[in-house]
Amino acid sequence: MNKETHVLDRPPEGAAADWTIPQDWAAYTAEEHATWDRLFARQAKLLPGRASSAYLKGLEALRLSESGIPNFEELSERLHKLTGWQVVAVPGLVPDAVFFDHMANRRFVAGNFIRRPDQLDYIQEPDVFHDVFGHVPMLADPVFADYLAAYGRGGMRALELGALKQLGRLYWYTVEFGLVEEAEGLRIYGSGIVSSSAESVFALDSDSPNRIRFDMQRVMRTEYRIDDFQQNYFVIPSFEALLRETVETDFAPLYAEILAQPDIPIAAILPEDDVITHGTQAYAEGKAAS
Ligand code: PHE
Ligand code: FE
Repeated sequence: MNKETHVLDRPPEGAAADWTIPQDWAAYTAEEHATWDRLFARQAKLLPGRASSAYLKGLEALRLSESGIPNFEELSERLHKLTGWQVVAVPGLVPDAVFFDHMANRRFVAGNFIRRPDQLDYIQEPDVFHDVFGHVPMLADPVFADYLAAYGRGGMRALELGALKQLGRLYWYTVEFGLVEEAEGLRIYGSGIVSSSAESVFALDSDSPNRIRFDMQRVMRTEYRIDDFQQNYFVIPSFEALLRETVETDFAPLYAEILAQPDIPIAAILPEDDVITHGTQAYAEGKAAS
């Protein structure tokens, strides 16, 4: 789930007051389960040596390798024992306050539909593969689990302070598209990367994107794209460091400072950036030219 997609203003028919709907696991067809299995097999082959150890551990602990689309009730039971989180189904689009409230209360909202077989490589709206395979393994990590719950509380505050766009960028460049520096090298942990076969490779191996050491203010000022591979990845030193910095910082004065400054264009490198890879941007420029 990402922040671009929460737009309706009251729960649609069949949804509860908190916007949740039954997953209706029994209604999935054999073809839909097979789509999950195909996506799963492809990522399972790619991710060792690429995904962060926290992600790979979560995948194991939650037994997501069992065949078929996971049943949210069973998955929630396993996850709840580990970190207190649960997975609940919502009809795709929920308002920001609803999204943050679930998150602050350790309920991860997931779409229950799965992409069609002709959409294996790309979908605009987050489906159950993105939401569950992409996001849920990280929620089995106690530190990341705390980060996302804290983020939910921070979201409520950002709504009041008129800084949703700025906080949303933090989500984008960590939860959705983050990299982490491990002893063996850079690893992916962002859900948008680990659930995409092409971006799992691109994010680590391509010469095109910038890879910059994470700086919270910098990230909250940086534009991003939702329609193609990222042009910037931000690299955290560890999940502990990310949690500590976000929880210990009062964002109110930070927002005031950031809102008074210009946004940073998508692929710009600043003199103060701690750059790991200065990307060629050849991929994005090639696309723009064609
Ligand atoms: N500490 C932030 C605030 O004061 C909240 C926050 C926590 C934001 C964790 C993101 C992640 O608003
Ligand atoms: Fe997402």
